[in-house]
Amino acid sequence: MAARFCLLVLALLPWCIPAQRGAYDYGFDVSRQLKKRQFGEPIVVKGWGSDNIQVRQEIRELERDRELWTLYLLGVSLMQFSDQSSPTSWYSLTGIHGIPYKTWQDVGPTPGNERSGYCTHASILFPTWHRPYLVLYEQVLYDLIQQIASWWPEGEAGDRYRAAAPRFRIPYWDWAAAPPSNDRALPASVGGSPDVVIDGPNGSQRIANPLFSYSFKPLNSTELPSSPFNVWGATVRAPSTNDNRAQSNNALVAQNLDANVQSLSERLYILFSNYPDYMAFSHNNGRPATNRTSYESLESLHDSVHTLAGGGGLGAPNVQGGHMSYIPYSAFDPIFFLHHTMVDRIFAIWQTLYPESWVTPVPAQMSSYTTSKGEIQDSNTPLTPFLASSNGTFWTSDMVRNHTRFGYTYPELVTGLRNTNVRTHTTRSINRLYGQSSPANRFQEERKARGLSGSIPDTTSDVQRLKGLVFNGNRYREWIANVRVKKQALRESFAVHLFLGTVPRDPQMWSLSRDHIGSVGVFSADDANAMPMGELQISGTVPLTTRLINKVVSGELLSLEPKYVENYLRKYLKKAVIGASGRVYNPAGIPTLGVEVFSTLVRAPATEDELPAWGSPETRFEISERSG
Ligand SMILES: *[C@@H]1O[C@H](CO)[C@@H](O)[C@H](O)[C@H]1NC(C)=O
Ligand SMILES: *[C@@H]1O[C@H](CO)[C@@H](O)[C@H](O)[C@H]1NC(C)=O
Ligand SMILES: *[C@@H]1O[C@H](CO)[C@@H](O)[C@H](O)[C@H]1NC(C)=O
Ligand SMILES: *[C@@H]1O[C@H](CO)[C@@H](O)[C@H](O)[C@H]1NC(C)=O
Ligand SMILES: *[C@@H]1O[C@H](CO)[C@@H](O)[C@H](O)[C@H]1NC(C)=O
Repeated sequence: MAARFCLLVLALLPWCIPAQRGAYDYGFDVSRQLKKRQFGEPIVVKGWGSDNIQVRQEIRELERDRELWTLYLLGVSLMQFSDQSSPTSWYSLTGIHGIPYKTWQDVGPTPGNERSGYCTHASILFPTWHRPYLVLYEQVLYDLIQQIASWWPEGEAGDRYRAAAPRFRIPYWDWAAAPPSNDRALPASVGGSPDVVIDGPNGSQRIANPLFSYSFKPLNSTELPSSPFNVWGATVRAPSTNDNRAQSNNALVAQNLDANVQSLSERLYILFSNYPDYMAFSHNNGRPATNRTSYESLESLHDSVHTLAGGGGLGAPNVQGGHMSYIPYSAFDPIFFLHHTMVDRIFAIWQTLYPESWVTPVPAQMSSYTTSKGEIQDSNTPLTPFLASSNGTFWTSDMVRNHTRFGYTYPELVTGLRNTNVRTHTTRSINRLYGQSSPANRFQEERKARGLSGSIPDTTSDVQRLKGLVFNGNRYREWIANVRVKKQALRESFAVHLFLGTVPRDPQMWSLSRDHIGSVGVFSADDANAMPMGELQISGTVPLTTRLINKVVSGELLSLEPKYVENYLRKYLKKAVIGASGRVYNPAGIPTLGVEVFSTLVRAPATEDELPAWGSPETRFEISERSG
């Protein structure tokens, strides 16, 4: 309300500049103090080099580091308040990804591709393109943070901030690990409050929380032309309205993420243990329906989190999904970089497990601003517009293969102990963070926690009985639902939800229902700004085993053997589809949508230094439309 009022009276009241509302007041004109880049000097993505490696922390971990946290929030805020026309402003940097479809740093479009961002999706370059993108953001933020630290007056406090600043690296948001007991899957620092109190160089002040939302300064509806993005003055999640009064419903986003954490965690654990091949791991490439072991991918998991963070269509009825729901707008939301740093972390962890597997040449399935559909992409394809040198050389996948050359790493890749190798340390971390809800680790955990209540009966004999029903020696059977659909099957992003039992009538109740298993999000473009995706098919998975074990426990299902499970799933597995706008679709009306179930025998890890070993797929069958 206040912001709009300011806009109206802007000419009369020069002090009421909406662009400055919520910025930190340093007590001087910050724009004059900021180091100016040499005119015409290209921005080169450098990082810090392998001699100066710092750890990218989980956002809640960074929050415990008072100096770095303060500097981080001030840095992001300052970037958001930078002049939109500057190539390093929030608007320009996040605009590289999708909208506005503009040239950044003179790296022009391939003729015909003017209506795309630079980002590569459904592409073998999906993980590698985003790596230098994150480093660019990190280095711009780092430079701002060093300057902010220099603005503390001399003295003990100033010394502390100046000492902390060089340690800064961007944080990630772990959406797959069980959140800490005092927080939700959506961190309170991101979704809790639109403003935040900062104890900065000019004292304690309340500023706009730069992680909650980004306010356009100003919104340029020529560059964000389609409704309602052309009236939303700030980024929103699960928005309340399609007009300029839209508010985020972060509580709902948090609730939906909480309801999906277990499924995301299981999907990630399977991705780490059953996807040794970069081709399958890296991206959502519309694999042939015959290849049922590789429907999951890093990109597909990433897509699901995008749709959940945008609101998943579960916000107010008939209101468009938030910015995170759509490829062209997603990067404006401050949660985007937190999410993508997690994606890069998964990539780096996976590389430690499978160091030999890498980018192989394949045709692009979608165009970007500088690459065309059908063009062969390989490990030497330039990751435009990210310059590796001022002589005009761009980073390539081969060049970014070892992330440490940029001067960052992740906690799971630092052993700290002299005699532990990185691979072992990484595997233990994966088991600890993401293996807990996997059936593979469940029995060991249940036995350790014998006597504690849980969904499995807590007497030894019951555990033994169940062990007999589910495990055969150290082997057991995993059940997974493969979901495949055309990326642009609907004129919006959407999510396919699976249930074991009944689908509640009210979609707001879907994720909260006991019968809800999980969802596969389809991250697309809104119709008016369609990026050319053609007939591109994408896929993702919903692991079913944990739910089926619960049914064995409750006696509804005799065992995990195909002769029982197949009939059971044919009867009870249900699908439901919701668009980012909240529109509910009849799955039978989406001809390209298919849900196929398969099972595989898996050897459970004997120790926490191992991951489950997957066999080849055995049973499979299609869940027909009638049961949907
Ligand atoms: C910051 O500096 C300005 C200008 O010197 C001053 O008016 C303002 O009160 C200061 N803010 C705080 C919280 O001290
Ligand atoms: C809005 O965007 C258009 C197209 O890029 C540009 O020509 C115009 O100058 C922009 N307006 C403002 C106020 O920045
Ligand atoms: C299935 O995908 C895996 C991993 O990409 C690959 O190794 C295998 O050859 C594929 N199988 C078929 C039948 O396409
Ligand atoms: C550009 O710079 C890079 C890095 O310094 C170097 O490896 C490359 O050979 C140079 N290329 C040209 C064309 O000068
Ligand atoms: C990555 O680079 C670092 C620093 O040069 C080196 O220690 C490490 O062995 C490299 N990792 C791989 C997998 O090559």
